[in-house]
Amino acid sequence: MIYGDRVRLRHMEKDDLPSFVEWLNDPEVVRGLSLYTPISMVEEQEWFETMLKRPIEERPLCIDVQKGDEWELLGNCGFFGIDWRNRSAELGIFIGDKSYWDQGYGSEVMKMLLQHGFSTLNLHRIYLRVFEDNPRAIRAYEKSGFVHEGSQRQAEFHDGRFHDVLFMSVLRPEWVE
Ligand SMILES: CC(C)(COP(=O)(O)OP(=O)(O)OC[C@H]1O[C@@H](n2cnc3c(N)ncnc32)[C@H](O)[C@@H]1OP(=O)(O)O)[C@@H](O)C(=O)NCCC(=O)NCCS
Repeated sequence: MIYGDRVRLRHMEKDDLPSFVEWLNDPEVVRGLSLYTPISMVEEQEWFETMLKRPIEERPLCIDVQKGDEWELLGNCGFFGIDWRNRSAELGIFIGDKSYWDQGYGSEVMKMLLQHGFSTLNLHRIYLRVFEDNPRAIRAYEKSGFVHEGSQRQAEFHDGRFHDVLFMSVLRPEWVE
């Protein structure tokens, strides 16, 4: 378990899957993700079984928020594509429960993942990709210390047109705890 001020990150259980299926069928949530078709419970269960075969550092972590004595699931996040020789990894996050957007949870989780990536996994470079028309995510990443690196021009098609995909990163020497 990784604890922050208001949230904790933990491994995913089968019981979490129905919430993910609900959120991943919400057009507002998936707009910023690479998903572009509806998703079923059966597909999510298959994804879960495959996910368990990934290296442990690359398995997504559930984001729980503390509500009194209880913990409530908000979404998930995690590293993938870890390149151990170059000590570089990509990050992803989604908060499925929209009532929690714009309250600093996304940036809190990103800071926890930077801490985990640099202090525990011994990474040197942590990067992410974000669509240019996702200002909420871009702002959350900027607040967490990510800097703009460049973009892939018109690399993503949605809402009837092409969008640039922005790259953002944090290097270990510039990371501020
Ligand atoms: C992206 C996401 C993780 C951000 O989490 P969050 O908890 O909402 O983010 P935060 O509250 O930490 O920060 C959001 C910031 O964006 C700002 N913001 C919101 N809408 C904005 C807009 N249209 N234009 C500019 N800034 C905006 C907020 O005001 C806030 O900044 P502030 O704290 O300076 O006021 C979350 O919204 C999410 O999961 N969205 C759906 C999936 C997704 O897009 N994932 C990212 C894929 S790259």
